[in-house]
Amino acid sequence: MTAADFLPPTKDLDDLAAAAKGCQGCDLFRDADQAVFGEGAGSATMMLVGEQPGDQEDRAGRPFVGPAGRLLDRALAAAAVEREPLYVTNAVKHFKFTLPERGKRRIHQTPTRTEVVACRPWLFAELEAVDPDVVILLGATAAKALLGNDFRLTAHRQEVLRLPAGDDVPPVDPTVVATVHPSSILRGPQERRDEAFQSLVDDLRFAASLLNTR
Ligand code: URA
Ligand code: SF4
Repeated sequence: MTAADFLPPTKDLDDLAAAAKGCQGCDLFRDADQAVFGEGAGSATMMLVGEQPGDQEDRAGRPFVGPAGRLLDRALAAAAVEREPLYVTNAVKHFKFTLPERGKRRIHQTPTRTEVVACRPWLFAELEAVDPDVVILLGATAAKALLGNDFRLTAHRQEVLRLPAGDDVPPVDPTVVATVHPSSILRGPQERRDEAFQSLVDDLRFAASLLNTR
């Protein structure tokens, strides 16, 4: 089973979000609180794709509202990109975590390729519904979800990329840019944080410069 078994007949964003709540396309729905669907206007010109909801997103039911989201907001502001015309989503819609000990904090786990592929029909449906001019892939999971498992993020920053053709790829052709995930900056070494943050800001600015050039 994959998310494709739970897609509604229309590509309306509200219908998609409602249907995703009932998705059992992989095992991740079992332990997470809820599916966290993308957010933003259907008319958004830019789409940001993260990995999966984190602990706070899982509780709130909204993408990028925790520490990574706050860092992303700061980076968007520094790049002079407004959050308003954006559509923000994740490659995987349910939070994957381990619980090392009862009562302890839930620890993020990277989703497997199988889980990413199982969830991808939601992301494809969002791409088709929003039809953005520019897609920004935040981190390796999002980049590999759309550009293939062999894609190496570090080799392709500030490059104009396109979605590969494929049977289940929707008929849209946004300009695609890949950059680091905001969480990688939070998890990375303290002394490199300013530099890593600045490079994210530069990549976001580059992506914004590609608007209207499609
Ligand atoms: N990390 C992500 O990739 N997405 C979120 O929504 C939050 C943290
Ligand atoms: Fe469905 Fe995606 Fe959740 Fe798996 S992670 S159950 S495919 S919404």
